[in-house]
This record gives sequence, C-alpha cells and structure tokens, in this order.
Amino acid sequence: MKLPALQSVTVEILVDNFFDVFEPSRPGIVERVVPGHLKQPLVAAHGLAYFITLKRNGQTTRILMDAANSPLPLFNNLKALEHSVEEIDALFLSHGHPDHYGGLLSFLGLRAPGLPIYIHKESYLPKLLITPRGRIGPWTLPREDLVTAGAQLHENQGPELILDQVLITGTVEATTPYETPLPGAKRLVEGKEEHDCFTDEQALVARVEGRGLVVLGGCSHPGIVNMVKYAQKLTGIKKVAAIIAGLHLTPGGDQLIKQTIAGLKEINPELIVAGHCTGFRALTQLALAFPDNFMVSCVGTKVMIVGG
Ligand SMILES: [Fe+2]
Ligand SMILES: [Fe+2]
Repeated sequence: MKLPALQSVTVEILVDNFFDVFEPSRPGIVERVVPGHLKQPLVAAHGLAYFITLKRNGQTTRILMDAANSPLPLFNNLKALEHSVEEIDALFLSHGHPDHYGGLLSFLGLRAPGLPIYIHKESYLPKLLITPRGRIGPWTLPREDLVTAGAQLHENQGPELILDQVLITGTVEATTPYETPLPGAKRLVEGKEEHDCFTDEQALVARVEGRGLVVLGGCSHPGIVNMVKYAQKLTGIKKVAAIIAGLHLTPGGDQLIKQTIAGLKEINPELIVAGHCTGFRALTQLALAFPDNFMVSCVGTKVMIVGG
C-alpha cells in the first residue's frame, strides 16, 4: 500500500496513566509541559487519548485517537492544553476497550454531527476480563449510540488509507511466536463467551518524509512487534521513526518483556514513547534496554516527528 509522505506528525499525549514533572524533554522532538504554564492542572487516568496533527502539502489534519476512559480527563486535558473539540477533523478508535472509548459519547455530544469515526467492525463486541480480583465487564460500545449521536461511521476489518494521509492496519497479522493473546481476555460473540484474540485492535501508521514510519498503538494487545512488522509489510517501508503506544507488557511476565525488547531492538526505531497499560516493570526494563531512545508517555507530552 502506498502511504503518502507527510511533512510532519505531532502527537500530544492528551490522556495517559502518567504525569511526572521530572521526565526530561528533548528539544524539538519530545517537549514536556511546564505545569506552571498551564491554565489548569492536567489529569492522569487509566485511559488513552492522543491528539494527532498531520501536516501535508501545507494542510493540517487533526485526529483524535481514542477518547480516554471518561469525559473527565478528556475534557479537562483538552482545556488545559488549550485545545477545543472543534479542532478535531476525525476520530480513530484503536480497539473496543472502555478505557479508550469512555469519553466518546460525551465527545460526540459536543462535536457531532458528521464527525468521521474510523473503527474496526469487531470493536462493538462485548468485552470482559477474568482477573485475579474477579470477573470484570462485560463492557459494550453500542453502535446505535454512535449513530444516534450523529457520527459518520467508517468501519473496517482490513488495512485502509484514511483521510488520504495515514494507514489504519485493520486486524494485525500475528507473526512473532511470543506475542500471544492474554489468557484472561474474553469477548461475547452472539452471546457466547470466547477467547479474545484482539482482532479488533489496529495501529495508526503515518509516513514522514525522509524519516520513516510513525506507528501509534492503543494497548497493543496483538503485540507491538507484530503491529510494527505488519505496518512495515503493508507499506514496504522498514525504517521506523517512532513508536508511541501503550504496550500492555507487565501482565505477560518477564519473558514476554525480554522477547519484546529483543524484537524492538531488531526493528531499531529512532524513538519509543510508551505509557498507559505498559506497566511499571516493563517501563523500567525498556528504559534500561533503550537508554538513548526510550521515553515515558506522560500527559501533556508533545512528540514531534518532522520530515527532512
Ligand atoms: Fe487500554
Ligand atoms: Fe485494551
């Protein structure tokens, strides 16, 4: 698939699990917010939302990727970072988990009608988790609620070029032997409980002129190495400028963390920015394994990938 070369991609971490004022910046590449300069405080929460700005041929397109776990952090942080819902041209949902769509209907209440939403067909299936602390869910994102709210739904299953600018991968091809589905993840299909292989999770992939791919993941349940390899296969581009994602690694244990780090080393991205569901243990291992190009994704962080 031919992916157009963009002049730049900027990703602002609108909602994520972390905020740490001591995380360093990298001037011109990763800028951290200065709390004293904010109009109101930022809120960290177990949820995800990225405010993505694409520049191509002098034109600007803004995509909201995921809508956090609830309206509270989403609207609070939009305001704190001096953004408004009207700026958003389209919404992309990474997968059907409530920590990614919890603020979606409230967002549509302000931004719809007519907002394009890019979503995998299977994101509407009820999801649940079997955890050591019990059964959680099922959670459902009702399709009819999105239609009633006036969203313009673009549903996919396979890879698609959207807005003439970026690729959404559709169901990710699994090629690594170690990135296997989470044992406790379930979904309901026609009322029957089945193992959730996260066929609904997809990455958003951009290409920046002279820099390579920017791969954005939500929870990366299919495995970040699988996701990046699939993006490389679909686009025919090997070079990876940045991976920005929740990596959901700690629950998989030390072996998975080790193997994923080895897989990422092979991919050799210029920059990895991870947060959300990665888990503290995995974040610390990543920081040790990539001392020069790993950064923690905190709310208010702006990641800039500029062509050249
Ligand atoms: Fe998540
Ligand atoms: Fe998830």
